[in-house]
Amino acid sequence: MSIMAMPLSVASKVTLGKSEFAGKGIKSAAPSTRLAKQNVRFAIKAAGYEDELVKTAKSIASPGRGILAIDESNATCGLRLSSIGLENNETNRQAYRELLLETPGLGEYISGTILFEETLYQSTTKGKKMVDVCNEQGIIPGIKVDKGLVSLPGSNNESWCQGLDGLHSRTAAYYKQGARFAKWRTVVSVPNGPSELAIKEAAWGLARYAAICQDNGLVPIVEPEVLLDGEHGIERTAEVAEKVWSTVFSYLAENKLLLEGILLKPSMVTPGNGSKVKATPEEIANYTLTMLKRTVPPAVPGIMFLSGGQSEVEATLNLNAMNQSPNPWHVSFSYARALQNSVLKAWKGQPENVEAAQKALLVRAKANSLAQLGKYSAKGEAEEAKKGLRTCTARAAARKHSKIIPVVSSE
Ligand code: 13P
Repeated sequence: MSIMAMPLSVASKVTLGKSEFAGKGIKSAAPSTRLAKQNVRFAIKAAGYEDELVKTAKSIASPGRGILAIDESNATCGLRLSSIGLENNETNRQAYRELLLETPGLGEYISGTILFEETLYQSTTKGKKMVDVCNEQGIIPGIKVDKGLVSLPGSNNESWCQGLDGLHSRTAAYYKQGARFAKWRTVVSVPNGPSELAIKEAAWGLARYAAICQDNGLVPIVEPEVLLDGEHGIERTAEVAEKVWSTVFSYLAENKLLLEGILLKPSMVTPGNGSKVKATPEEIANYTLTMLKRTVPPAVPGIMFLSGGQSEVEATLNLNAMNQSPNPWHVSFSYARALQNSVLKAWKGQPENVEAAQKALLVRAKANSLAQLGKYSAKGEAEEAKKGLRTCTARAAARKHSKIIPVVSSE
């Protein structure tokens, strides 16, 4: 079955409203009736969770909302805490995650949150389950299920992502505990190749993980991160992104994923962080959307970008640029660092700063909500939030060598 044939056949299996399925110019009742008459068989099995998966993915990809990623492993969370002089222990991790999730009004801008296993099973200091705090805010809890990166033998110093062993029973247990979506992050390095082997391994791992999640009622976030590291220009990132995303979607098709019940979490197509040639948000949006349109079927409900080391304002401006004209998917955010940096600085680990820290989170969440709607302006943003912001100097240089046709006018 070709990739492009997948969405239509899948869509007719799940129960979608006529208007959702029909689209302009298609007779509303025709597709499913026609397929039913032809007795089309569907190979997809998601253990009866199909409708729920579609509903969960749609709720996460709802207008003006995105994902708050707070799924740092204990080691990585330790790095965040040490940046404000705090010890990495369970009490401090609990206090930090509690502060974030209890932020009043957060659910207006945040539709889902990715948790680390410790948080999924944790309660607040007042004894309320973190999962209940999320649900009361109208935020769907999710869970990081990969087991991290290790070196990939036979490659050019590249890595692969572990975690498939035992994933079936783990995802079943996470669903019982209240998680409704999952995340698996694997990475591809531009300066190290990327080799065919590393791309295949990354894409196949994502597809196997995603199928196992759907079988247990969790919407898989498929996250193939093209790392920002390197001196390459934006065109090289675009080439790699196109190759990686197309490989991922071919393996998702091979594994018979219900595309309406997944979310893609890609990196934005930007120059490497060591490149002398910087790009404007409009250029980044053009390259990113061009590559996404070439490789990602419109059946996928949401593209939830990671921030990948961009500054807070940079990540928001780039997202805003992507939403200046309609897209086939909900184009939004699933940021960790670009939502948390200001919060950590405001909190400093002091109980008296909790309110200020929660305000800082709301500022970032609201800014990204506006960017999801294409209505954000960086006017009035704090200098701190702009740190790392790239100045846009060499747009002409980037275009000179471009073979890519921009899909959004950046003039
Ligand atoms: P960043 O937004 O910090 O790149 O985090 C990405 C991520 O995968 C967190 O879940």
